[in-house]
Amino acid sequence: MLIDKIEAIKAQLAELRADNEEALEALRIKYLSKKGEITALFNDFREVAPEQKKELGMKLNELKTMATERINALRESCKEQAKEENKIDITRPGAPQALGTRHPISVVRKQIIDIFSRLGFTLADGPEVEDDWHVFSALNFAAVHPARDMQDTFFIEKNDADVTRNIVLRSHTSSVQVRTMDHQKPPIRIICPGRVYRNEAITARAHCFFHQIEGLYIDKNVSFADLKQVLLYFAKELFGPDTKIRLRPSYFPFTEPSAEMDVSCMLCGGKGCGFCKHTGWVEILGCGMVDPNVLEASGIDSSVYSGYAFGLGIERITNLKYMVKDLRMFSENDVRFLDEFQAAH
Ligand code: PHE
Repeated sequence: MLIDKIEAIKAQLAELRADNEEALEALRIKYLSKKGEITALFNDFREVAPEQKKELGMKLNELKTMATERINALRESCKEQAKEENKIDITRPGAPQALGTRHPISVVRKQIIDIFSRLGFTLADGPEVEDDWHVFSALNFAAVHPARDMQDTFFIEKNDADVTRNIVLRSHTSSVQVRTMDHQKPPIRIICPGRVYRNEAITARAHCFFHQIEGLYIDKNVSFADLKQVLLYFAKELFGPDTKIRLRPSYFPFTEPSAEMDVSCMLCGGKGCGFCKHTGWVEILGCGMVDPNVLEASGIDSSVYSGYAFGLGIERITNLKYMVKDLRMFSENDVRFLDEFQAAH
């Protein structure tokens, strides 16, 4: 019956929902287009008995008006909503920008530089691709020294007949000592932070590149006691005022005498624990008095001047300060690891 169909559509109209233009258009097509449901009822109307025509005709027109109005009303509220969504709330707090953090190696490098700057050391720099002279020969390495060997050094150019013509990735920052002495007359008081390369398999405890800081002081009457005092000050500044140091005899081609320095274990305070292998000490750097051959190779009169040098690995110090277990974390750039250094500056 036509009247039932009219009532059924009327009931549907109240339930209509649309939240965008396409949905509205679909509704208009469904009910009011040429093939729409309401249009179809006008066809049915032709069949209606004459005595019902007046009443049903009114109802049908009413339905069409209702449907048109309903869809128009939905269109209005759609527009309102879109306006609401586009409104900018200028009082709303901004989305916080995630700030990057300093890399732990940069954090510790800065701490070390700051300590030596307070003692009057200035910064020096040098290239990572170096010639044999600056990395080995000028530093008193014998032509057959094992550090020149393939196992330790990356070669850019290798001359088996004449090793002094090799071009290498520097395996230590001591090359910057030589560069500085090349163009500066004593007194010289420098530290040189930089990246160094060694041909080693990458494991938790070794990497093919890492960072060092080299220190060099050359003047008249520089003694081993000066070196020891500077290193003691450094250790206390870096690891705390109760830190003790000890120097063990060692060997480097470019220093004589040479030593390795240990600091009292920062975990147990020197009593002995698993971390320091129950010795109470952990090794942190190599040092010594600059060998007269090194001074002479750079044109500095070793009968007038003397000096000391020291070199340390920044990764090693960072491990000791922050207990990083795996060296590889420093170069993997996992932000979860890097974010842990948020508070360190
Ligand atoms: N260059 C040495 C190394 O890489 C460290 C060092 C520097 C030792 C200066 C003594 C003096 O192991």
